[in-house]
Amino acid sequence: MSAMTRRVVLARFCDGPPVAEDFRIEEAPMPEPRDGQFLVRNILISVDPGTRARLSGKPSYIPPLKLGATVGAFSIGEIIDSRHPDFAPGEIVSLADGWAEHVIGDPRGFVRRITDRRLPLAAWLGVLGVSGMTAWFGLHRVANLQAGETVVVTSAAGAVGSAAGQLARIHGCKVIGVAGGPAKCDWLTGPARLDAAIDYKATGDLPAAIAAAAPEGVDVLFDNVGNAMIDRIIPLMRQNGRIVVSGQVDAYNTSDELAVEGIRNTRAFITHRLMMQGLVVFDDLPDWGAAEATMANHMVDGSLMGRWEVLPGGLEATPEAFAGLFRGENTGRRLVRLAPDPDDFPKDPS
Ligand SMILES: NC(=O)c1ccc[n+]([C@@H]2O[C@H](COP(=O)([O-])OP(=O)(O)OC[C@H]3O[C@@H](n4cnc5c(N)ncnc54)[C@H](OP(=O)(O)O)[C@@H]3O)[C@@H](O)[C@H]2O)c1
Repeated sequence: MSAMTRRVVLARFCDGPPVAEDFRIEEAPMPEPRDGQFLVRNILISVDPGTRARLSGKPSYIPPLKLGATVGAFSIGEIIDSRHPDFAPGEIVSLADGWAEHVIGDPRGFVRRITDRRLPLAAWLGVLGVSGMTAWFGLHRVANLQAGETVVVTSAAGAVGSAAGQLARIHGCKVIGVAGGPAKCDWLTGPARLDAAIDYKATGDLPAAIAAAAPEGVDVLFDNVGNAMIDRIIPLMRQNGRIVVSGQVDAYNTSDELAVEGIRNTRAFITHRLMMQGLVVFDDLPDWGAAEATMANHMVDGSLMGRWEVLPGGLEATPEAFAGLFRGENTGRRLVRLAPDPDDFPKDPS
């Protein structure tokens, strides 16, 4: 009998916040690499809120997933069989092929080799992976961040937000993080060393709280949450302010585009010469290597803290781990462990 593997597939389209019953685990024959491909045994898989945009069966900024399809996700694993001359068994790679025990790697798609063994493997799925790259290119390419500016980051204790806040601080900016709950805010002003943190769930008047922390106004808003948050912060923007639209976690569960909150405060775009621009981090893929190297050095010298959690429980834990993102349960990048880390990487501290 041929070897079998397992994967998580979409069992029904999500309606509102995702629940574990939207998914099911399926057994399937072990995939076989073709020429130019390799087989990877996943070690860590990631659950990302952006995945939600594909689960309603409706068009979004990425094509919808079909029922029965493997749920797409980033992962890190070890090559166990290769039909590619440049990729050998034993190498560690990051891929984007889904919640599955085994996946096929193909360098014509997304494949990152992980060779820097100074940091735990998990760092390469969070602060040094897509999350950290979104923060880096959002701040540096989209916002053209300048030292001395005042930056507000929303969902600031999340995977993208925690990288964005710290990178802005490292760049010499004043940084205010907006997050839900005292534990997240304590982390932002403690280990992450931001200038201020605002608990939006406890603050009746968010704009007033931001204005108190930044009476000079806001030069850059790095937003992960959505239009309702942006609309409240626009009146605080300074001349030539920039708004980076990184994500819309507040809107992912609203399947009707017309029901998503709008932005009303558009007059300030004229009076204050504001700019608002989104990004898709893969547009910057050719430049990831330099950003990864700089950020890895910041992590090694202690100026940049990774923020991730690794949940046990294997593939079975993945749907519930994903659903918890929309209840604010995660601390930074949420990962699920499928296999132990290789011996030659530092042990994961979480
Ligand atoms: N543009 C790109 O290329 C790109 C690439 C990667 C990710 N992204 C986007 O970046 C954003 C952040 O990603 P991430 O992986 O770091 O996720 P994340 O920020 O960790 O997302 C989960 C967090 O979002 C917050 N949240 C959930 N529902 C909310 C709501 N209704 N209102 C306000 N906050 C809510 C919660 O934090 P609190 O407890 O603080 O509310 C929760 O812990 C996502 O929107 C993602 O899609 C964009």
